[in-house]
Amino acid sequence: GRTGMTGRTGEPDGRQPRELRSHQWYGTDGLRSFSHRARTRQLGYLPEEHLGKPVIAILNTWSDINPCHVHLRDRSEAVKRGVWQAGGFPLEFPVATLSETFQKPTPMLYRNLLSMETEELLRSYPVDGAVLLGGCDKSTPALLMGAASADLPAVFVPAGPMLPGHWRGETLGSGTDMWKYWDERRAGIIGDREMAELERGLARSPGTCMTMGTASTLTAAAEALGMTLPGASSIPAVDSGHARMAAASGLRIVDLVREDLRPSAILTREAYEDAVATVLALGGSTNAVIHLIAMAGRSGVKLTLDDWDRIARTVPVLANLRPGGQYLMEDFHFAGGLPAFLTQLTDVLHLDRPTVGHASLREQLAQAEIHDTDVIRTRDKPLSEEGGLAVLRGNLCPDGAVIKHIAADPKLLKHTGPAVVFDDYKQLQRTINDPALGITADHVLVLRGAGPLGGPGMPEYGMLPIPDHLLKQGVRDMVRISDARMSGTSYGMCVLHVAPESHVGGPLALVRSGDLITLDVAARSLHLHVSDEELEQRRAEWEPPPAPYERGYGALFAEQITQADTGCDFTVLAREGRVPEPYAG
Ligand code: FES
Ligand code: MG
Repeated sequence: GRTGMTGRTGEPDGRQPRELRSHQWYGTDGLRSFSHRARTRQLGYLPEEHLGKPVIAILNTWSDINPCHVHLRDRSEAVKRGVWQAGGFPLEFPVATLSETFQKPTPMLYRNLLSMETEELLRSYPVDGAVLLGGCDKSTPALLMGAASADLPAVFVPAGPMLPGHWRGETLGSGTDMWKYWDERRAGIIGDREMAELERGLARSPGTCMTMGTASTLTAAAEALGMTLPGASSIPAVDSGHARMAAASGLRIVDLVREDLRPSAILTREAYEDAVATVLALGGSTNAVIHLIAMAGRSGVKLTLDDWDRIARTVPVLANLRPGGQYLMEDFHFAGGLPAFLTQLTDVLHLDRPTVGHASLREQLAQAEIHDTDVIRTRDKPLSEEGGLAVLRGNLCPDGAVIKHIAADPKLLKHTGPAVVFDDYKQLQRTINDPALGITADHVLVLRGAGPLGGPGMPEYGMLPIPDHLLKQGVRDMVRISDARMSGTSYGMCVLHVAPESHVGGPLALVRSGDLITLDVAARSLHLHVSDEELEQRRAEWEPPPAPYERGYGALFAEQITQADTGCDFTVLAREGRVPEPYAG
């Protein structure tokens, strides 16, 4: 029922009730089925409210501690409204909340855990389809990875960006302007009163970071993949349009179940390539590289760093959004949102693939229009001719590294300087301002011990702080290298995701302070000026650091996690193979 109206009467045009997965729980003549019906009476539902209807799980990452998702308790009510009206039976499942701001050492440690929770809940309960509510950074890939592995029809409801921040007549971008004003405070330019005002002004409403940070990058990727309703990803969290989008998603999922349109039909290689192009044209977060590779892996699509580099060379940056540009997500929304944005990429996109929306991407884009060409640039006025990210290779990163050079000082695009090495983040924090290190603006700051295993979880330490004395001299950017990730709201000439990481003996483990390093972004290279023989000698002396965890989830994580270039999924989750349907009768 493409019209959105069919399949809701007594004569559904799609799958019959007994073809539903939930029929195994509810509709068979056995003792178990009787028990499931009796327990649904216990929940307070009449038989006619649910029997024969698609069961829709609403996976909700709401929590009191997650400011980006704090409105999702209300939104799930809007989703339920839509599901009931379409003739489905909605059931809400609270799932783990991954709050980028609060969770330590980093919610990246728990992305795969939420993906497992998502997959296993969908598999083990009588579920025919799912609506996934989330948006704060890792929630999006986690929910979509789980849904891809479970392969039940699913719609993603992005949490939506928060309202723009305000301070003394200026708009503030979350993250981005926090880093900026913190540096100004360290440089002595602003004081306590200004900081107290900024504390109140930075984050004005529920919702995800409203720059083109990791959250907006990944929700846009989810939309480009075809897993949200068209235009969903930029609707501000507190806009009444957001509740309407949630209700529409609830209406739509019931039809998707009847049409049996599953993630495996939507999440194709073409879809992932389109998501990569979208992220690059948005000047989006480097985190998307890791997450989209992991997501693609769950769909049986082998997406590589080379794919990213290849597509980056063909796609210009067209979104004038912080941290690389000027505006915020609300501006992007009023400029037409992602459908308007994608009209500029029709030559690189695959337009005839299915989405969870009522129409193909081609039909959706035919109705889209740009309303502000300073926010959403047209192809003849790009922010940059090439995509926002580059993949680097060289003897310091044999398996690759990533840099977001559009949000950096162009003077540093080609730079050689002596390394100053920090073994871990604590050491860096303790010593970065030590005058004895003699750090100049030409030095290359190197942080190791911050990768998937060493971090652990690859914390967002990658925007290494500029030493105070250099900040006071006006230095605002330096070449920085690490095996960490970087917040999507950060900026600077930061080489990230160096693979293999130092913890497993990657060459990053062998760098010494004073070694010369050359970064050449145009040549896509990162070179350590130390001979192979010398490196071999250093390797012979190298001792692997102790594992951070001896037991528990951290130990499981360490056994299972893959390196950044392959997406940091768990090997048991990433591999192909049979998982049986549970026997429900
Ligand atoms: Fe949640 Fe940025 S902290 S999206
Ligand atoms: Mg972030």
